[in-house]
Amino acid sequence: ESATVVVIGAGPAGLTVANLLRRCGIDSVVLERRSRDHVTRRRRAGIVETRAVRMFESWGLADVVRGGPPHDGVLEFRIDGESRYVDDRDGSAGSGARLCPQQVLVQNLTAAHLADGGDLRYEAADVTLHGLTGDRPSVGYRAADGTRHLISCAYVAGCDGDRGVSRAAVPASVSTVHTFDHGIGWLTVLADAPPPAHPLLAVSPQGFAAHFPRGPRSSRYYLQCPPDDDPAVWPDDRIWDALRTRLADPALTGGPITDREVFRLRSLVHEPLRHGRLFLVGDAAHILSPMGGKGMNLALHGADLLVRAVRDAVRDQDDTGLNAYSRRCLRRVWSDQEFSHWLTRTVHEAGDATASGPFLRQLARARLDRLVTSPGARHAFAELMTGLDPARAE
Ligand code: APR
Repeated sequence: ESATVVVIGAGPAGLTVANLLRRCGIDSVVLERRSRDHVTRRRRAGIVETRAVRMFESWGLADVVRGGPPHDGVLEFRIDGESRYVDDRDGSAGSGARLCPQQVLVQNLTAAHLADGGDLRYEAADVTLHGLTGDRPSVGYRAADGTRHLISCAYVAGCDGDRGVSRAAVPASVSTVHTFDHGIGWLTVLADAPPPAHPLLAVSPQGFAAHFPRGPRSSRYYLQCPPDDDPAVWPDDRIWDALRTRLADPALTGGPITDREVFRLRSLVHEPLRHGRLFLVGDAAHILSPMGGKGMNLALHGADLLVRAVRDAVRDQDDTGLNAYSRRCLRRVWSDQEFSHWLTRTVHEAGDATASGPFLRQLARARLDRLVTSPGARHAFAELMTGLDPARAE
C-alpha cells in the first residue's frame, strides 16, 4: 500500500494534520492504536486559543470548534478569597478563543475527516517505522483482524503522544530531551457540577486550586497536593471541603465526581522534532504543565506548520518549510513552556509558602499584583494566552 503521508495517532495533533492535508488535496492514512470510541471520549484540554480558532477558520474548518461556547476573555484570579479579573484578549480583530473541550474537538475533527473520505484506521497495533532517513519510508502495523500491513509513504507525522513509537524512533545519538519536574502534584477532578462563570485560578495558604468549564454541566477542578498522593486519600467530601476552602466559596455545592487522578506537573521538550522523513507533532514532541492550556494548542500549531511545509514540498518541490519545521516549532514550544512555567510557579508560590518560602511567595504576589494592575503586564499575558505573540508569527 502507499500514501503520501502516514499519520500515527488520531488525537488532536493527528486529526488536525490529516484534516489539513485533505484540504491541500494530499492523501494520508491515520493509524490509531485505540478504538474510535475511546479516543473521542478522552477528556483532557478545554480551550482552543484564539490563534488556533483563526487557524481552523483559515483552512475552512471553522466548524470543528463549534460545540464550545466562545471564551469571553475574562479569567478570574481569586487571591485569598479576593476576586481579580484579567481580560486575556489582545485586542486584535477576528474570532476569539473557544471553550471547546478536547473530546468535542476530536469528535468534530474525526467526523469532518471521515465525511471528507479520510482513511482513518483504528485498533492499528504494533506500528513500526522503517527507512525514515531514506526518501521512501514505510510504516507497518497489525490490523484488528490480525493481518499485517505495510504502507510506503513520503512523510510520517508522529502524532502518537507522550508514550508513542515516533519519539522513540529518533536515535538517542541525535536527540536531546529537556525535562523539568515542578515538584508539584495536582489532584485533577472531573465532576457533573455547574461550570464557573469564568475560568478560575485560586491562590490560598492551603495551596492552589482551579475550576474550569468542561461543558454545560461539567467541571474540571485542580487541587495542589503532594506529588505522590494516592487518589484514594481524596474521597469526595475531602475534595469538596478543600475546594470550598481554597476557592473561598462556602456555598460550593459540587456534584457526582466522574474522574479523579493525581499527576505530577512536569515539562518535556524533545529536540529535534524531525528525523529524516519523520516529523513529531504535539505530545509526541513536548509535554507542558496544564497551566495556560497550551498542550493541545501547541499540537494544533505544530500540525498547521507541518502541513504547510508538506504542501510546499509536494506541490512546489520546496523543502524550506520542512527544513525549518523543527526550529520554527521549537521557538513556539519554548515560548509556551516559559509561559506555562511562569504561570505555574506564580499561582503556586503565591499561595502555599511552606514549599518555596516567604520570599518567593512575595515575588509571586508581586507578579499577580502587576498582572491585575498594569496594562502592559496584562497585554503581555494576553498575547501569550491568545497564542498571538510575535515569537510565533513565522
Ligand atoms: N500507534 C498508534 N497510535 C498510538 C500509539 C501507537 N504506538 N501510541 C499512542 N497512540 C495514539 C493514542 O492512542 C492517542 O490517541 O496516539 C494518540 C495521541 O493523542 P494525544 O495523546 O491526545 O496527543 P496529541 O494528539 O498530541 O494531543 C495533545 O492531548 O493528551 C492531551 O494534554 C494533551 O491536550 C494535549 C493533547
